[in-house]
Amino acid sequence: MTLSRETPPICDYEGSNYCTDFWEGRGREYEDLVERIALRRLLPPTGQRLLEIGAGFGRLTPMYNGFEQVVLLDYSKSQLRQAQARLGRGDRYTYVAADFYHPPLADSLFDAATMIRTIHHAQDVPLVLRQVRRVLAPAGTFILEFANKRHLKAILRYWLRRQTWNPFDPEPVEFVELNFDFHPRWMAERLREADFTIERRLTVSHFRVPLLKRCLPARLLAAADGLVQWTGRWWQLSPSVFIRARQDKLGPPPSPTAFFRCPRCTGTDWHSTESLLTCRTCGARWAVDDGIYDFKAPLD
Ligand SMILES: C[S@@+](CC[C@H](N)C(=O)[O-])C[C@H]1O[C@@H](n2cnc3c(N)ncnc32)[C@H](O)[C@@H]1O
Repeated sequence: MTLSRETPPICDYEGSNYCTDFWEGRGREYEDLVERIALRRLLPPTGQRLLEIGAGFGRLTPMYNGFEQVVLLDYSKSQLRQAQARLGRGDRYTYVAADFYHPPLADSLFDAATMIRTIHHAQDVPLVLRQVRRVLAPAGTFILEFANKRHLKAILRYWLRRQTWNPFDPEPVEFVELNFDFHPRWMAERLREADFTIERRLTVSHFRVPLLKRCLPARLLAAADGLVQWTGRWWQLSPSVFIRARQDKLGPPPSPTAFFRCPRCTGTDWHSTESLLTCRTCGARWAVDDGIYDFKAPLD
């Protein structure tokens, strides 16, 4: 865990083997498939620029192929390095190491943003959502996945007294340090406060039950999940919820030239070389480490 004065604590994946410890060969093909079904349903098919917040090792990034440019933001440089090895370099992908409370990106830069399996690490959700709103262009699309505290299994466990926390209590529950489950109503209120309008809600991973996953092929279970995801419009009792929200702020159109925004002074005018970005406003210097823009801390 990394702490700094202005930033809430960060769940640091640096050096972790998230890909092999959680996904590859770990019996989660079902979860991966159902998330792809939901994303396909919610994503705008094409667009100019998309921000993937908490991109990790780039598991879902190829889903965004309809966008001309994808910015992968993650606090962990080692995760971004793995993403770079999977996806390659070039103009299509931009790799940015930074925390989601201070994205070093200009206002109104993106027509879409996604945040999958990531907001559950956020202690200060309103701050994250304000930043997402800032970097989205007016009417931009935000696809948010969050872990649902009011899911069927949690309700049953609570009624059988096998769980102390109340799944109906709207406040987030931190079940492990820096891992939060959220009540759907609470998350909807935070989105509205941040000027988002919820357009669509899908419930996902209904059949995340070890016995079912052992007995039935992942593709069959995923197809069944796909058939019931739309019920999220009325009730949300699955462990994972996907939301498509539209950003409703009125604001100036994006600047045609601004891209990075200095985390120290918010300036957007840069002197750049292959290995260094220097802010022309405050002089802060940020490393470009082998294709990864490192905004975690300035060089001086
Ligand atoms: C559970 S992984 C999900 C990765 C990817 N979205 C996926 O679904 O495969 C969570 C990711 O969020 C990143 N993360 C956690 N806290 C962060 C923060 N404060 N700022 C930026 N990224 C963060 C981690 O480094 C990690 O890569």
